[in-house]
Amino acid sequence: MEPTPHTLVTGASSGIGRSAAVRLSRERNLILHGRNPQRLEETLRMCLNPERHTVWSFDLKNPGELAGSLTPLLVASGRCVDAFVHCAGMVTVLPMRSLDYRVAREIMKVNFFSAAEIINVLLKKKVNSQRLTNILFVSSIWSRFGARGHSAYCASKAALDGLMRALAVELAPAIRVNSILPGAIRTSMAAQGFDDLTILEKLARDYPMGTGLPDDIADAIEFVLSAKARWLTGQQIVIDGGRTVNMSLK
Ligand SMILES: NC(=O)c1ccc[n+]([C@@H]2O[C@H](COP(=O)([O-])OP(=O)(O)OC[C@H]3O[C@@H](n4cnc5c(N)ncnc54)[C@H](OP(=O)(O)O)[C@@H]3O)[C@@H](O)[C@H]2O)c1
Repeated sequence: MEPTPHTLVTGASSGIGRSAAVRLSRERNLILHGRNPQRLEETLRMCLNPERHTVWSFDLKNPGELAGSLTPLLVASGRCVDAFVHCAGMVTVLPMRSLDYRVAREIMKVNFFSAAEIINVLLKKKVNSQRLTNILFVSSIWSRFGARGHSAYCASKAALDGLMRALAVELAPAIRVNSILPGAIRTSMAAQGFDDLTILEKLARDYPMGTGLPDDIADAIEFVLSAKARWLTGQQIVIDGGRTVNMSLK
């Protein structure tokens, strides 16, 4: 029997990943990934056709154990993955002066190495039957620009976008590979900033269109995965309400 195609969304237990999952559930079967099983179940209940989706709880700080967890989920169940959206991510303020390699490595593992490891599994013929056609990374505008105390986070997103460009060439024409680079989006990851009046005032000055919502990114994810984007590959797609083109002095 032919395996059933699914879209794998990492970080589906919260924020942008949850919003993307709910949006994609209208037309796709999903594998909802996250760490927190309760929050994953909440996402599942928010999705259309919950019986068509499945959850995968796995801590991406252990990418070395990832293949051993993802492979049986596909092989034993008759599922395959035709689209992979990497939304999972972590950020920790880590000034260079007090660089902590353990924390820096965790950021690299969750934001970058886990995506590479997942793709490695999904490219295995015996595991995924050459079904993969779409890879989409949720990167960040900080992949292109700097932010004090965020060198590890910026480097992890830049690595992700470097991988994106290389794979877009290596895996064409069978697989399209792109990154979406959001600006400030109101989620639990950005909650601290959105709770701070000084930061809120700066965001209001810097974002010509105001800050974004998870659904703004979910809309773009839906488009990039669709047939309407059939010729789109190897691109960093910035969605930031005009933040990175704003050179205003006040
Ligand atoms: N919010 C923004 O302003 C913004 C801007 C630019 C880029 N981004 C990027 O957008 C993506 C989604 O972030 P968000 O804003 O939606 O944040 P969020 O609400 O905090 O969601 C983060 C997601 O990543 C998962 N995750 C974190 N560490 C993990 C680990 N060790 N193992 C497995 N899963 C892990 C979380 O799972 P659990 O809930 O199960 O822990 C959660 O589903 C991230 O890659 C982030 O870098 C966000």
